[in-house]
Amino acid sequence: MRELRDIQGLLRAFLQPLILPGDKVMDATAGRGRDTLFLSECVGPTGKVYALDIQEQALAETHRLLSDKGMADRVAFVLPRPCPLSGGCYGPAACRDL
Ligand SMILES: C[S@@+](CC[C@H](N)C(=O)[O-])C[C@H]1O[C@@H](n2cnc3c(N)ncnc32)[C@H](O)[C@@H]1O
Repeated sequence: MRELRDIQGLLRAFLQPLILPGDKVMDATAGRGRDTLFLSECVGPTGKVYALDIQEQALAETHRLLSDKGMADRVAFVLPRPCPLSGGCYGPAACRDL
């Protein structure tokens, strides 16, 4: 049985041909920004990436990385608010601000 080691690489190889320059895409868990950076490269200068994270610190790190790479202007950094309709959890309703 073969081992699957590079799941992130596999996902990126799958996504890359599907995302076109000028597209608008969302990274629902920006974290340290590596996926946001990948998506920003895919959409190009005319596209937009909506990068969400419930941690301000994560958004700050993502912003720093994207700024260092000169791509911060392709990204909207979004701190979702808890949804009052679902007991205060962070669900799809958090995207209402986009
Ligand atoms: C493993 S990291 C994501 C890694 C990231 N994609 C990268 O490339 O660096 C997980 C992130 O998801 C965020 N997170 C967890 N639940 C979330 C939610 N409901 N909405 C948005 N962000 C969430 C956490 O704050 C954390 O920063």
